[in-house]
Amino acid sequence: MCGIVGYLGNRKASDVLVEGLSKLEYRGYDSAGVAVLEEGNVVVQKCKGRLANLEVKLDESKLEGHVGIGHTRWATHGAPSDLNSHPHTNEDGTIAAVHNGIIENYIILREWLTSEGYKFKSETDTEVIPHLVDYYYEGDLLDAVMKAAKKLEGSYAIGVISKNEPDKLVAVRKDSPLIVGLGKEENFIASDIPAVLNYTRDVYLLEDNEFVLIENQGVKIFTSKKEEVNKEVYHVTWNADAAEKGGYDHFMLKEIHEQPKAIKDTLTSRIVKGQNVTLDSITITKEQIAEIDKIYIVACGTAYHAGVVGKYAIERLAKVPVEVEVASEFRYRDPLITENTLMIVISQSGETADTLAALRLAKAENARVIAVTNVVGSSVAREADDVLYTWAGPEIAVASTKAYVTQLIAMYIISLYFAENKGTVRKSEIDKIKCALLNLSEKAAEVLNHKDLIKDFAKRICNDQDMYFLGRGLDYAVAMEGSLKLKEISYIHSEAYAAGELKHGPIALIEDDTTVIALATQEHLFDKMLSNIKEVKTRGAKVIAIAMEGHDVIEKTVDSAIYIPRVMPIVAPILSVIPLQLLSYYVSIEKGCDVDKPRNLAKSVTVE
Ligand code: G6P
Repeated sequence: MCGIVGYLGNRKASDVLVEGLSKLEYRGYDSAGVAVLEEGNVVVQKCKGRLANLEVKLDESKLEGHVGIGHTRWATHGAPSDLNSHPHTNEDGTIAAVHNGIIENYIILREWLTSEGYKFKSETDTEVIPHLVDYYYEGDLLDAVMKAAKKLEGSYAIGVISKNEPDKLVAVRKDSPLIVGLGKEENFIASDIPAVLNYTRDVYLLEDNEFVLIENQGVKIFTSKKEEVNKEVYHVTWNADAAEKGGYDHFMLKEIHEQPKAIKDTLTSRIVKGQNVTLDSITITKEQIAEIDKIYIVACGTAYHAGVVGKYAIERLAKVPVEVEVASEFRYRDPLITENTLMIVISQSGETADTLAALRLAKAENARVIAVTNVVGSSVAREADDVLYTWAGPEIAVASTKAYVTQLIAMYIISLYFAENKGTVRKSEIDKIKCALLNLSEKAAEVLNHKDLIKDFAKRICNDQDMYFLGRGLDYAVAMEGSLKLKEISYIHSEAYAAGELKHGPIALIEDDTTVIALATQEHLFDKMLSNIKEVKTRGAKVIAIAMEGHDVIEKTVDSAIYIPRVMPIVAPILSVIPLQLLSYYVSIEKGCDVDKPRNLAKSVTVE
């Protein structure tokens, strides 16, 4: 979490830094700060709260310097406060650093530096960095940062400037993302590409343990042994507008509306009518697929929920046992991994620390790993054996929507690919599913037309304290995602239950007027679901159902219903999640919450 930026060029650095940070606020927004070289001195401006607070301070301080670093924070070590905000400096304020990640050995380093006479002001792990650089500084900032980095354990993307070398910006990454933006007589560092897109489309995607030296003459990249690296320039082809709101009130609403396109883009060239599935440059062979005896799908948050749908699809079509697990649990148990195990990691950002750790665990045990990610060149993309990109485009709202539906598409693509290679399902069945997938984009657009109806529901339920989401089979997987969406952006307590499990405990929570959102899109489970709905209705619940067109018999049992177009039940999650996303969005709006930046959350969780 946290976002860092850095600039060296001819513009007013503080403007560029604030502009960059505004594109990185999704990574955390507990505080923001910049350090700029101003008439030979390092000047720091930082404060608790959103970037807007910092902008007020910067307006007053009128910094003119052309070199600087900036930071937007998601607090881990030390509460959100002015003092704990980045940048942090050494004691005499000649060196300033910004950091994304966690320095795991900071207590030892802090004790050691204290014994050497260094004084600390904040509670952060980061503050050891400027002091360490100071300790090793002998006239060359890059050398000092290199020596300091050798002492650091944990994850970091770091940017450093110094009064003693005012025309230099030094940076390094390990296990936290960092890119370099390459402009004309100006260069940038940033945690993510959107931060530099207003200035350049040419970037370097840094590898772990690569050091960046930006000077007036240009950019040099070094290994930790100070050997210069020849990096390939990555040209960003997506539009900067993709990271703007484009007329919508919020990124989340824009991203919900981009789903028809995202679905289409993710299917393109992989699922083509009448042809076998193609998986880009995925190298796994037919023989290797035949040998897989177990698949782990590992992910966090919404991506985990996509994995649950993946399990249903893969087991049903490819006939391989699948376990889905949250990465933070997987990495600390002793999972049974063999050479015949396949791991599929799902991660929108490709940088989630726990997911990356799970991937590395699997690789260490010689398992093969396929990454499903939305970010080209991200850590999971680089470290996995194969990558299947979701082509959702940049997702900015913290609550994931279009990334989720494209992750589902990726799960179907992989399932069908395996099924074709293994011959586990009749070709006619595979063709039907392909056809259903190819029609989804249009049908998703139809679901978006229910917006006004959903807005009305949101008005009716926005004052609820608790809500329950029920479903069976694939509907249960979607219920989990619907419940997460609601709680993360509207702060209403909500839970998802497998509808059949209700009578084993959760039904005790149902009382007069409790809202229940019941998903009933799975044809073969429809009658069972109706019985479960009756069980909660009898106990006073008000029920909103999500069902397929043609199932209007459900209206006899529920209070209200939202219909999705008829599709093969296996692909229904792609459509049934959309009303739930819209419902969460409008409830959040009704409650006056900050939809795109919900409290305590961050989009990319690059710390444990
Ligand atoms: C955070 C975000 C979620 C996301 C999860 C996993 O918690 O707020 O929206 O689903 O991380 O992120 P990833 O980038 O790995 O998909």
